Order: sequence, then C-alpha cells, then structure tokens
Amino acid sequence: YTVKLDASDISKGTYDTFMLKEIDEQPAVMRKISSNYFDGKKINVDQKMLEDVAGADRLYIVAAGTSYHAALVGKDIFENLADVPVDVELASEFGYHMPKLSKKPFFIFLSQSGETADSRQVLVKVNELGFHSLTMTNVANSTLSREATYTMELLAGPEIAVASTKAYTANIAVEAVLAKAIGEFKGVKAAQDLDLQEQLALAANAIQTIVDEKDKFKEIAADYLTDKKDAFYIGRGIDYALSLEAALKLKEISYIHSEGFAAGELKHGTISLIEKDTPVFAYINDGIGASHTRGNIQEVAARGAHVLVIASKKFAEKGDQVIVPEIDEMISPIVSVVPAQLIAYYASLARGNNVDQPRNLAKSVTVE
Ligand code: G6P
Repeated sequence: YTVKLDASDISKGTYDTFMLKEIDEQPAVMRKISSNYFDGKKINVDQKMLEDVAGADRLYIVAAGTSYHAALVGKDIFENLADVPVDVELASEFGYHMPKLSKKPFFIFLSQSGETADSRQVLVKVNELGFHSLTMTNVANSTLSREATYTMELLAGPEIAVASTKAYTANIAVEAVLAKAIGEFKGVKAAQDLDLQEQLALAANAIQTIVDEKDKFKEIAADYLTDKKDAFYIGRGIDYALSLEAALKLKEISYIHSEGFAAGELKHGTISLIEKDTPVFAYINDGIGASHTRGNIQEVAARGAHVLVIASKKFAEKGDQVIVPEIDEMISPIVSVVPAQLIAYYASLARGNNVDQPRNLAKSVTVE
C-alpha cells in the first residue's frame, strides 16, 4: 500500500516542532470532519455498517493510550446518542481476560496508527469469534483498518509527534458522527436534536481562541510546573475521562509524574500526596459534577495545593484561571483538552526535552 502525503503534512513549515503544528491544526481538522462526514444534513457513513451496529445490544470499544482515553469520552456519546450500553476496554487487557460478552456485541477499535499490536491481537480474536467490527483510524490502509469489517477515517492528517493531540480530538468528533448516525437510524431523540455540524464549528472556533493565547499557557507551565516532580489533574464525569488524557500528555513529554483522578476519589487516598505547592489542575465542564468538584478544590487548596481551574464559560466563577468557550458538554473534551496539550508542550520545552520524540516512547507500538 502507498499512503499519499501532502508535502505540507510532513514538513514542520514555520514550526519548530510537529506537536505545536498539530495542536494548531485542530480547528481545521474539526472543519474537515464536518465537511467530509456531512452532506447537507445527511451523514455520510456506510449504511450497511449502520444497520449492523444498530443491531448490537452492546458496543465494546477497544484501544490503547490516548485512543483509549478517546474511547472513555466516546462511552457517554454512544450511550446518549445511540442509546446502547458501551464497555470501554484496554486492548492489552481485553484480549487475554475477555469478559463474558453480550449476546450481540459489536466491536469498535480506535487506533490513530491502525498498527498497534495490542489492539490488533484483540481484532484477530474478534474475527475468529465471527463478530463484526469497525476501526476508526487516522491511516486509511492500516492493518486494523483492513482487518476490521468496516472502517472510518479520523481525517486528522498525518500525526508525526509521538504525543497524540489532533488524533484525540478528531477521534471524539468521529465518534460523535457515528453515534449521531446510529441514533438517527434508530430514531433516538437526543441524536435528532443534536446539531453536530454547529457543534463542530463551535469547537473549531473555541480551539482557535485557545491556541491564539499560547503565551498564557507558557506562563502557566512556568508558574505551576517549574522544578515540580508531581502534578495532578482532577475532574468528574466527562472531566474525569479528560483528566486522564491531560495527565498522560504531561507525563509523556515533560516527564513530570502526573496522574488524572476522579475528583471525588481524592479523599479516599490520593489526597495524602498533596503538600504545599503541589500543582493540581481542576476541570469544570461537567454540569452535574461542577459543585462537588469545587468542594474538592477547596480541600486540596486547604492542604497547600497550587490549584489551576480550567472551566467552561457556563460554570466559570470569579478567580478561575482558564475559561474555555462552551460547546455541548458530551464532546467538551475536544476543546478543554487543548489547554492541557499546551501546558504539557511548554513544560516539556522548558525542560529542554525532545518534545516530538520523548524518551522510551514510539509513535506506534507493534509489539504486545
Ligand atoms: C503509542 C503512542 C501513544 C498512542 C498509543 C496507541 O503508545 O505513543 O501516543 O496513544 O500507542 O496508538 P494508536 O495508534 O493505536 O492510537
């Protein structure tokens, strides 16, 4: 197979790093997904696939790394819009410890590269069992794309930096496209009511306003993370899923030990790690969790944590350091992950690390 690449895709252009270029490309990726997957109001997806997925009694989303985090966000999207229960599974665990499957399972593999061995070994087993599957991938002719029953492209353009950015946001958007299509096919009201084209346009503009303020995140990285060994991201609901990705970005490239936690779980153990000036980044985009997360912020602040609040406009309060424009809560990580991408980027740069090629990591891992 040959992959066609545009010269502008594989050169850094005016950028010093691929990562920053790829972060900046996210508004364009959102617009591309919208224009490619929509034809007027009609959604362009394989009708046979829709019938197939709509017949499933449970979706199993299987992935690794950042794609796994996109799957965690997808769970809510599919359960709401497509009205189907969803299990999210780590590829490296699932293949060897397969749970009791539902009667009519359908498998969705998320893989930027389409080559991850952990995910592929699950797909091989799924094929042996005779179940149908879909791979969402950024590489059209990749192994996982060829071996699954169906495939959907992320349309993010080549992602070169090891730390995944635009593929994560693209993946959430494409999950929303599929969930809406299934929901409309099944007549689910939540799917009919969601104007996804409008949401993707809002997301593009929102990301643009964040990336236009890079200096702010450079200052935050310097202020909160200089000489720090540990950092925490916290949130509830959709913000918990997001916190895991935010913490992964930071640890991957800055080598600062960072963890994402469910805000409500802190008091059950993790809070013992908080000491004077421990950086805690708290997300507030989740309506139901917002007031409780505020309480958790007070608890860590009372123990000396250096807290940064990243809130969407709707839930922002006086004193919050980062306010992000609002989009539909379900897909809000598309926007609210961007501050974390930039904070990780500048923390890594300040430490003199190789941002695009962090130590010990590979873009695509083809061993189990
Ligand atoms: C590697 C990369 C991660 C990526 C993971 C899954 O570990 O370093 O950034 O998220 O593989 O990759 P995939 O291509 O399957 O999404």
